[in-house]
Amino acid sequence: MHVYIEDLCDHVDQIVTIKGWLYNKRSSGKIRFLLLRDGTGIVQTVLAQGECDRALFLIADTINQESSLAITGKVRRDKRAPGGHEIIAQKIKIIQNAEGYPITPKEHSIEYLLPLRHLWLRSKNQHAIMRIRHEMIKAFRDFLDERGFINADCPILTPAACEGTTTLFEVGYYDQKAYLSQSGQLYNEATAAALGKVYCFGPTFRAEKSKTRKHLTEFWMLEPEAAYLELDGIMELAEDMILAMIERVVKNREPELTTLERDITKLTTIKKPFPRITYKEAVAIVQRKEPSFTTGDDFGAPHEAIIGEQFNTPVFVHHYPAHIKAFYMKQDPADTSLSLSVDMIGPEGYGELIGGGQREDDHDVLIKHIREHNLPEEAFQWYLDLRKYGTCPHGGFGLGLERTIAWICGIKHVRETIPFPRMLDKIYP
Ligand code: 4AD
Ligand code: MG
Repeated sequence: MHVYIEDLCDHVDQIVTIKGWLYNKRSSGKIRFLLLRDGTGIVQTVLAQGECDRALFLIADTINQESSLAITGKVRRDKRAPGGHEIIAQKIKIIQNAEGYPITPKEHSIEYLLPLRHLWLRSKNQHAIMRIRHEMIKAFRDFLDERGFINADCPILTPAACEGTTTLFEVGYYDQKAYLSQSGQLYNEATAAALGKVYCFGPTFRAEKSKTRKHLTEFWMLEPEAAYLELDGIMELAEDMILAMIERVVKNREPELTTLERDITKLTTIKKPFPRITYKEAVAIVQRKEPSFTTGDDFGAPHEAIIGEQFNTPVFVHHYPAHIKAFYMKQDPADTSLSLSVDMIGPEGYGELIGGGQREDDHDVLIKHIREHNLPEEAFQWYLDLRKYGTCPHGGFGLGLERTIAWICGIKHVRETIPFPRMLDKIYP
């Protein structure tokens, strides 16, 4: 019977077949251990000279790393074995004996591994990260679904910019120009007016010119948006969503976090409410360490790190100056130089994980901002319609999935958080 490694606990003392690949092998005297992986886990298969068929014992020495195999044997519970079970082999079927697999169990440089991403994904840490990614996506979706948000995805081919024109990827669209979406937000605002509470989740694209550990050119964004949701509500939603995700990942993916040597207490100690500070207060924190920082400037990665260091938890920074934020941000009625915007800065130097805020809901103010940003007014007629027909306060945010995964996994660079990263000058494999 074909059984997945993660289900072995239900088959103790039974004869099963595991189908997978040779992860590694060890020998000790008259025993051979074949470590087999099947995507759900790794199990050790034991061949003892004298106890198993001699031909079988000899086969073990000829199989190379990443060969595809089907191993049949008896499941034995063994506390010392990785995963708590081992297989006493009775039969080995070699589907393909792989020669010269390029990623041996020793350490390799990132320059060596990146072009081998299609194979690197088989390694233990990468495997753990992908499983955590999957769990996080499920946790976020379930959280929003349970709160009555409707998943209404937004187009990837768009006629205009959402997040400024400097990072647009232009593509030909028959005899017109189109751009790959930088954010689903503007369309989210339309679906929120139709459905109340919505979210979109998909790939977004930014032609980033900088090579940093936080930037991809193709990344996934989760964007909830709701009608009648104002700044405080936006922060509360983000906070609850982050906490629900952490709880779920820690509960279901502890072995993967352990594989990554993540200090889990850094996650479990995070509690509600997250600190909420104004941009002005954040500037004061930054200036204590970096007196040359000018009030009114946007924060860069080093400044976000300084803000993040102050707190052992994510922190909300709100009321940024309007001039450093996108055209759609609602201006603060109490001080129009400020916007009702909010970013969530992660702890441990992970920087901005969430960006969002309240949207400008006044038709005339919005048109003024579109003109000030030199955006093509014709392309935004439909967006302006939302302010003509039943405008209301509304808002939401975008969570960068890969940056959030990097934080949860405790890994330095976002390139390992997505199966096939796209970065400045990197599109292979
Ligand atoms: O702050 P951003 O630009 O916000 C928006 O796009 C809003 N329209 C979203 C909304 O309100 N619905 O991007 C949101 C998040 C950032 O906080 C960051 O986590 C991530 O997206 N992000 C990137 N992640 C990886 N690589 C990049 N180049 C990223 N740019 C932004
Ligand atoms: Mg932002």
